Amino acid sequence: MSERLQRTLDMLAKHHRDGEKFVEMMKQGFAERFNDRFWQEWSDWIVPVFGTRPVVLDLGTGPGMFLHALADRHPGIRAIGVECAPYMLDALNDLPEGCEIISADLHEPKLPLADASVDAALASVVLHELNQPLRALQEMQRCLKPGGRLFILDWVRAPLETYIQAQTEEARVFDHATSVDELDDLFVHFIEHNRFSREDLIYLLNMSGFSVVHSRIMKSGRYAQIIAERR
Ligand SMILES: C[S@@+](CC[C@H](N)C(=O)[O-])C[C@H]1O[C@@H](n2cnc3c(N)ncnc32)[C@H](O)[C@@H]1O
Repeated sequence: MSERLQRTLDMLAKHHRDGEKFVEMMKQGFAERFNDRFWQEWSDWIVPVFGTRPVVLDLGTGPGMFLHALADRHPGIRAIGVECAPYMLDALNDLPEGCEIISADLHEPKLPLADASVDAALASVVLHELNQPLRALQEMQRCLKPGGRLFILDWVRAPLETYIQAQTEEARVFDHATSVDELDDLFVHFIEHNRFSREDLIYLLNMSGFSVVHSRIMKSGRYAQIIAERR
């Protein structure tokens, strides 16, 4: 294993806390993240750019729930998940026909895909987990066909008060009896979940060969959805 991948896995192990539990958390939260509104927006913004046999990438696919949903909704699709965490790769079994996995580190992805061969890509709650998202965005710019679209969903910067009130019990945070470990964990995650603003992401996209066609803020300012088109 390369030193870089080992660094990525060490960082993810801290961020995900317990790999097995995190797999379950991703499965349980799937229906809420990918609710009717998400699928309506997927239909409005992404499906119109599909070719006859669409190829779709799912960056940081986790346990692959989105790949299953794509195969159900779009028969004939080629749906490719990209992932590197071993506990996620282990959970990616029984994928339906048309689905596959590329094991790669999104910090420096060199995906075995031809230039302009992908119709659309999803990055759901993954960019904030990267030390830098530029190489992943540049690789999407290479792989997507001109006019292909990238759908981003992620945490964005919010005031600490908003974050704490949504994330945990406020009284517990300010209770002198709360352990330092728990406080460290909360404040480290606050920084990780507050890495970029929506405007930061739009700037990175513009500079990486994308034009943003739609964006909105969600969850009281803590989350953003951005749809960008490969120029
Ligand atoms: C918060 S989970 C979201 C999973 C899935 N996209 C979803 O919304 O259900 C983020 C996923 O991205 C993966 N990930 C984070 N950094 C990565 C990297 N550098 N390379 C590949 N995958 C990465 C994690 O292992 C994890 O499975």
